[in-house]
Amino acid sequence: MNVCVIGAGYVGLTTSTVLANFGHKVICVEQLEEKVNMLSQGEVPIYEPGLEDMLKENVRKGTLEFTTNLSEAVKRSSVIFIAVGTPQDKDGKTDLRFFHEVSNDLSPLIDTHKVIITKSTVPIGTNEELNQTFLKNGVSESLFDVVSNPEFLREGTAIHDMLYPDKIVVGLKNHQAVKVLQKLYHFIDAPYVITNLSGAEMIKYASNAFLAVKISFINELAQLADVCGVDITEVALGIGMDPRIGHHFLQAGLGYGGSCLPKDLSSLEHQSITRNVTPHMLQAAQSVNDSIIAYYMKKIKKEFPDFQKKNITIWGATFKPNTDDMRHSQALKLVDQFVNEGCHVHLYDPVVSPKLNHVTNYKDMYESIREADMVIIATEWKQFIEADWKVVRERMRGNTIVDCRNALQPYKIRSHGLRYVGVARP
Ligand code: UDX
Repeated sequence: MNVCVIGAGYVGLTTSTVLANFGHKVICVEQLEEKVNMLSQGEVPIYEPGLEDMLKENVRKGTLEFTTNLSEAVKRSSVIFIAVGTPQDKDGKTDLRFFHEVSNDLSPLIDTHKVIITKSTVPIGTNEELNQTFLKNGVSESLFDVVSNPEFLREGTAIHDMLYPDKIVVGLKNHQAVKVLQKLYHFIDAPYVITNLSGAEMIKYASNAFLAVKISFINELAQLADVCGVDITEVALGIGMDPRIGHHFLQAGLGYGGSCLPKDLSSLEHQSITRNVTPHMLQAAQSVNDSIIAYYMKKIKKEFPDFQKKNITIWGATFKPNTDDMRHSQALKLVDQFVNEGCHVHLYDPVVSPKLNHVTNYKDMYESIREADMVIIATEWKQFIEADWKVVRERMRGNTIVDCRNALQPYKIRSHGLRYVGVARP
């Protein structure tokens, strides 16, 4: 099929690349000329394992192109994906500026039948509005179908998630459009959840909100477990065995960050409030997450009352492993807290080196701990889990390892004469 994808961010690039790889002819539209030039050379501006190789291969084969010319791309395509950013505004609501721009730009270009598929995460009712915008702009009803087809891609595993999703959510007005989706996704073996436009939009928000609630739930319990001398990883294991609960997203730690969970939770809160529904659960999840950094600072201060004078090394700056994304990173919030307390922080991350005052970045993980009194694991990169603890012990001045993600095996750390402090792991 001839497919146009509008937006070359995480979602747009993954969608374009995977569709091109499975037999479609894809043209991806991006406003920034510099980015288009880069992508046309097969260079990917984000860190996403496996994406660059697959993209390069399809650019080489000519199945994937990049352009700034929306009109040309739309003319060539019968399927148009909207994958533009829908960030959070200063009040926590969804900023639909780019989405609205695209809906207005698209209207005059629809002169043959197009299936317009929204991948961007948009508030409940937005796709219905998109439908109305086209009609208001004079596009004939027979010339388009609007479909809501939210993505559930995780950064770091985006390609895998697109190839092996647990479901394909499709919201539509005209059931005939399902056939187009089935043809597009011929290479994916997953059940379809078919609903109306608003239903699909809500599934996306509900999914991310539920994940956030689950994380905050275990993080709240971790604080109680800490006081009671209970190991929270054992609690998570125990409750997770109940298939109604499940093991996923029960890892206690610094809390959730990233571009999606905080933004979507906040948007859903606003969507509820504007409809006079009190979002008790959502607010609670957010407030637990907001309180975690202060909780850990208190804990660390208790361990090291004179910590301002100490050499503190933090491992991990991204919001989770296998990404270069630092948006809403809890690790960076922790760095910030130490800096605010007057500390000089030594920071190592495998892929990023954020320029921050009173922070020294290192290129080498073991260099970053020379003379350290305390090493804090803020993001659970594999490299940290597999560290050579003998070398760590030799290089450090002190002996405390604070594992803010419960990623390490305490016995392993202790066997090297190090002191292990985890999240509710007595
Ligand atoms: C999320 C959703 O998982 C994905 O379906 C959606 O499309 C986009 O948002 P992502 O933001 O890439 O994906 O990250 P995810 O893997 O969900 O992790 C979110 C945050 O939760 C991270 O900061 C992670 O460290 C934290 N987390 C996750 C925990 O603190 N504990 C857990 O048990 C799991």
